Amino acid sequence: MPEYERHTYDVVVIGAGGSGLRAAIAAHEAGARTAVVCKSLLGKAHTVMAEGGIAAAMGNLWPDDNWKVHFRDTMRGGKLLNNWRMAELHAKEAPERVWELEQWGALFDRTKDGLISQRDFGGHRYARLAHVGDRTGLEMIRTLQQRTVQLGVDVYMECTVTDLMRDGDRIAGALGYWRESGRFVVFETPAVVLATGGIGKSWKVTSNSWEYTGDGHALALRAGATLLNMEFIQFHPTGMVWPPSVRGLLVTESVRGDGGVLRNSEGRRFMFDYIPEFFKAETADTEEEADRWYDDKKNNRRPPELLPRDEVARAINSEIKAGRGSPHGGVFLDIASRRSPEYIEKRLPSMYHQFMELAEVDITREPMEIGPTCHYVMGGVEVDPDSAASRVPGLYAAGEVAGGMHGANRLGGNSLSDLLVFGRRAGEHAAAYASEIGGGRPVVPDEDVTVGVRTALAPFDSGGAENPYRIQQELQDAMQDLVGIIRREQEMQLALKTIHDLQERSKALAVEGNRQYNPGWNLALDLRNMLLVAEAVALAAMERKESRGGHTRDDFPMTDYDFWGKRNVVIELAGGGAVHLRLQDLPEPPPELAALLEEPH
Ligand code: FUM
Repeated sequence: MPEYERHTYDVVVIGAGGSGLRAAIAAHEAGARTAVVCKSLLGKAHTVMAEGGIAAAMGNLWPDDNWKVHFRDTMRGGKLLNNWRMAELHAKEAPERVWELEQWGALFDRTKDGLISQRDFGGHRYARLAHVGDRTGLEMIRTLQQRTVQLGVDVYMECTVTDLMRDGDRIAGALGYWRESGRFVVFETPAVVLATGGIGKSWKVTSNSWEYTGDGHALALRAGATLLNMEFIQFHPTGMVWPPSVRGLLVTESVRGDGGVLRNSEGRRFMFDYIPEFFKAETADTEEEADRWYDDKKNNRRPPELLPRDEVARAINSEIKAGRGSPHGGVFLDIASRRSPEYIEKRLPSMYHQFMELAEVDITREPMEIGPTCHYVMGGVEVDPDSAASRVPGLYAAGEVAGGMHGANRLGGNSLSDLLVFGRRAGEHAAAYASEIGGGRPVVPDEDVTVGVRTALAPFDSGGAENPYRIQQELQDAMQDLVGIIRREQEMQLALKTIHDLQERSKALAVEGNRQYNPGWNLALDLRNMLLVAEAVALAAMERKESRGGHTRDDFPMTDYDFWGKRNVVIELAGGGAVHLRLQDLPEPPPELAALLEEPH
C-alpha cells in the first residue's frame, strides 16, 4: 500500500461553482471542518454562464409577485414533473438568498427607487431576475468566492476526484489526483457534497466548458446513488453559431428579456407562429399589432420570444430545418432595431463585447446569428428535497448535479437561485450529519484506494491504441446527432450502440508521456464519466415515450399526462456495473399547492 497525501475533514465539497461555494460556506458556518475540491481554478465555473440573473420573487418591480407565483411558474415551466417540495422551498427561500448575497458584497443593478433591479425572462410571469448587467453569475461567484476565502475554508484547486470511497454503505472519503503533478490524494470525510455541475461536454454544440463531463453524476452512480430523469436536456435557444471556434457560446436570454426578437431568413418574426393555443391573440393582423398585444405585462402577456426555453429552441430548430435559417445555420436575434445603442450597451455590456470581439458584429446595429446550444441537464442525483441527501449515507448533491427541482425544463434564472437555496441546505445538512457521527467515523479502505489508483493509471499501460480525443469526438457527434433536440427510437438505439462500442474501445485507451499536466490522461479519466452518463441519458430518453420539456420525440409527439406525467425514470448501477433503469411514482403536491397549479395562465 503506497503512501498517499491524506487530508481529513468533516465535509468535503466537490465543485466550486455557486452551489459548491454556498454549501462550503454553510458547512463551515455550522462548525464543520470543510474543504472545497475543484477540478479547475477557483472562480472558473459554469455558474458564470447564467448571465441574466437570479430568479427570486422579491416583488421589487411587480408588487404582486410572491413565492406562490414563482412556484407555479417553475412547475409549469418544468411541465409539472418537478419535485414539488424542491420547487416550493426554492420559491420561498430565493429572495432571502439574494439579500444575503448582497450583504456579502454583491453589487446588483438598482431600480430608480434604489431597490434591486429585476428583469424579464422566459416563463416567469413577472420580471423577477435580480441582475448585474449581463454578468450576474460572475458577480455571484466573485461574492461567494470572496466569502469562502474570508472564512478560511480550505480550497484545493486543479484536483480531480476520480472515486468516492465508502466504508460499508456509508461515505468515507474521496480519491483524487493533482492535475499538475498527477499524484494521488485521499480526502477522509464522512460527508461529501457533490456540486460538480452538468454534463454538456458530451454534446458537440454546447455552452459548457471542458469541466462539464458529468463527474458528479458518475461518482454518485458508482457510489450507489440513483439518478433521476436524465432524459431531460436543456438546449438554450441562443448560442453563437459563428465563427466556428465559438459555436455554442451562450448568448444570454437577457437579450430577449430586454426586448430582442427572433427572425428567420425572410425577416419574419417567426415566434408568432409557435404560440400555444391558450396564449394566442384574438386578433392581430400585423406584426405591429401582435407586438403590442403580446408585450403587455399588465395583462400578463409576454412576447413569444419569452416562452420557456424548450419551446423557443424547438421553434428555432424547425425554422432552420425548413430552410429559413441564417447563413451559418442559425436564425437572427435582433435587438438593434428595438432598443437604442445606449440601452444595449448599458444592459448587455458582455454581449456587446462578445459579438464585437469574437464575431465582429456590432449588436447595436446588426442582428446576431444564433442557434440552440446544449446548456443544462435537468436530470441528476435523486435527493431528499429538504436535506439534499442522496440515498447513500453521507452523500449530498446540490445545483445542476441534483435532479428533481426543474422537472422537464428549467426556467432561465432558476439555476442561480437553485444553487443558493440547495447549496446552503446541502452544506448545513452535511455538517449536521458529520457532527452526529462523532467517534464512529468511517474509514477509507486501503484496498479501495489501491483499486482506484490502479484504475486511474490503466490508460498508461493498456497496450491499446485508442486516442481519447477521437473517442470524445465520436461521443459528441453521436449525442448531438442522435440524442439532441428532436429524438427518434432508432436514432437513440444507434446512439446507445455507439456508446457501448466506445465504452469497449475505451478499455484500450492509450496515453503517452508522464502524469504531470497530461491532458490526454485527464481526458481519458473524464471519458469514463462521460460515457457512463451518456448511456444513462440515452437509455432514459428511449424509455420515456412522450414529448415533454427538454425531451422531444418525433415518434411520440404528445405529452402523456396520465402515465408519463406521473413517473420519474430512475437510473442506478446493478451489480457488475450494468446500468439499470426503473420507473418510480412522482410525488404529488399537497392540495393547497396543487390548487395553485390550477389557476389560469
Ligand atoms: O441566458 C442566460 O443568461 C442563462 C441563464 C440561465 O441559464 O439561468
